[in-house]
Amino acid sequence: METFPKQVELRNGQASLHLMSGQDKADMLAFAKTLPPHDLLFLRRDILKPRVIETWVKKIESGKNISVIASINDEIIGYGTLSRGEIDWSRHVAELRIMVGPNHRETGVGRVLVRELFRIALDKKIEKIYARMTLDQTGARKLFQELGFHPEALLENEVKDREGKVHDVLSMAVDVETFLARRDRYGL
Ligand SMILES: CC(C)(COP(=O)(O)OP(=O)(O)OC[C@H]1O[C@@H](n2cnc3c(N)ncnc32)[C@H](O)[C@@H]1OP(=O)(O)O)[C@@H](O)C(=O)NCCC(=O)NCCS
Repeated sequence: METFPKQVELRNGQASLHLMSGQDKADMLAFAKTLPPHDLLFLRRDILKPRVIETWVKKIESGKNISVIASINDEIIGYGTLSRGEIDWSRHVAELRIMVGPNHRETGVGRVLVRELFRIALDKKIEKIYARMTLDQTGARKLFQELGFHPEALLENEVKDREGKVHDVLSMAVDVETFLARRDRYGL
């Protein structure tokens, strides 16, 4: 297993990475409040609710989820989660979710978080990883496509925003082996 905390280089300086725990609850809520509402739609739960963050921490404590937090001067700038579902026969599958704060996008944080989570996935013997996003998340689509993810399902009218408007969700997946074939690009 990777050792945390650690420092990483971004395009605009250094950030530190650590594994999320119960101590991050308040900071995570503060981070969630900085996010554009539309960016929350691909998540399973609404992280603006403190009790959702409580449940998230419980899943981390039970080993179902692993979240890596990126921060600068103790302020969260992004996080990535690897989440195993509840289905016994899909224990080799995990969902990847990444979120970077609007002021820190396109500085390389997303790529760093993906790299760390794939390292963890390898360690946990996960064979297939998928990610969900609304169709208009062009940054996310480009990033995942570049990493070898392919569109697997288009879920029509899958999410409804706070104003009641529905959006389609794209699910993209990659075999960890396919990703590994390209691993040198990500310094793995
Ligand atoms: C997707 C997301 C995590 C990317 O994070 P990021 O820190 O901005 O990404 P990086 O700076 O590491 O960029 C990695 C690559 O993604 C692609 N990318 C990122 N933002 C992009 C944009 N706005 N337009 C086009 N491509 C983009 C590029 O290929 C980029 O590589 P490059 O910098 O070498 O050109 C971030 O935009 C985000 O949090 N979006 C909202 C939440 C979301 O949609 N999450 C994905 C669902 S799991």
